[in-house]
Amino acid sequence: MKLASISENKTIEKRVAITPEIAKKYINLDFELSLPNNYGAHLGFNDENYKSLGVNLTDNEQDLVKNADVLVQLGLPNDEKLSLLKENQTLIGSLNTFSNKKKLEDLKEKKINCFSLELLPRITRAQSMDILSSQANLAGYKAVIEAFQNYEKAIPMMMTAAGTIPAAKVLVVGAGVAGLQAIATAKRMGAVVFATDVRMASKEQVESLGGKFLTVEGAENLETEGGYAKEASEDFKQKQEELLSETLKKIDIIICTALIPGREAPKIIKEKMFKNLQQGSIIYDLAAIQGGNTEMTEVDKIVEKDGVKILGETNILNKLPVSASNLFAKNVFNFVSNLYDKEKKKFNINLEDEIIEKTLIK
Ligand code: NAI
Repeated sequence: MKLASISENKTIEKRVAITPEIAKKYINLDFELSLPNNYGAHLGFNDENYKSLGVNLTDNEQDLVKNADVLVQLGLPNDEKLSLLKENQTLIGSLNTFSNKKKLEDLKEKKINCFSLELLPRITRAQSMDILSSQANLAGYKAVIEAFQNYEKAIPMMMTAAGTIPAAKVLVVGAGVAGLQAIATAKRMGAVVFATDVRMASKEQVESLGGKFLTVEGAENLETEGGYAKEASEDFKQKQEELLSETLKKIDIIICTALIPGREAPKIIKEKMFKNLQQGSIIYDLAAIQGGNTEMTEVDKIVEKDGVKILGETNILNKLPVSASNLFAKNVFNFVSNLYDKEKKKFNINLEDEIIEKTLIK
């Protein structure tokens, strides 16, 4: 089978879907692999690296799209490239089914098999393919680094002859994959960490990382069967607001990660709560692109409110694109291996396999 990937729009996406390490794995599986010149050069993956492994390199991206049996990408290619796809070709990536609904329907009409990996079920067998986890984990780590970088005090407690610096106090809102990594990273750097979530299962995970879990009194467990959060009731939101307003008085840095699948991010840090934070406090809002967990977040801007800085970006993974690409490429390779019938040397779109059924755009 012919597998290819084309360059992403590098101003918004620096990650690549095929690293040299993974190119080798595709070739070992008997795929014929083609990439455009300079595909990964911006990440230090030079053309020579790919060429020496047997990858075909070309200047003609249109031919790459037209001739591939499978196109592997980060996001959905632009309209011009999409228009070149035809029946029976396969497109795999993080295709963002919510914002690209119409385009994906058109591709389905043309009988192009589109697989969107953010739809993967959160089951054990899919863990090695789980792009949401691999990327959220890095995002949680980097959000802490960015917040600490902007914070004008030291993070760990330091006892010196000139006096004692207290440890910074960090609140992590949402203790899923990104939140748990944020807790671990902040702890490793010496912060005192608090966290909250609507799923009770996360309490034990937060505590196992050395964080202090803030439980909303009398709250029910707002967890779906799939392990995701449910929208909270008005009563819960009110109690959560009271609990957090009180907590904010002792917090220096907040890392926001709270999301509800398919909806705008819950607004947890209200405008009126900012006055409880100290001047110089920092909020890093990983939910910015989904509307933000604070009422003040603006994407790709540093907003200042009552002496507090709020940061949030379109794509924080562009700040560690090499690590993110290494994991993303491996996730996609594991997905492709599951789809590939080695005997027949073609894809077996077996809808009885939950992984295939859930990710295929139907
Ligand atoms: P996510 O990115 O959808 O949400 C982040 C966190 O925000 C979640 O923990 C959610 O409960 C929390 N949240 C939502 N609304 C909130 C609110 N109003 N206040 C406070 N917190 C709020 O979630 P993520 O990180 O993708 O994880 C979802 C679930 O999937 C978790 O249970 C995780 O453990 C599970 N998972 C399972 C895997 C598996 O293979 N078995 C792999 C990865 C994750």
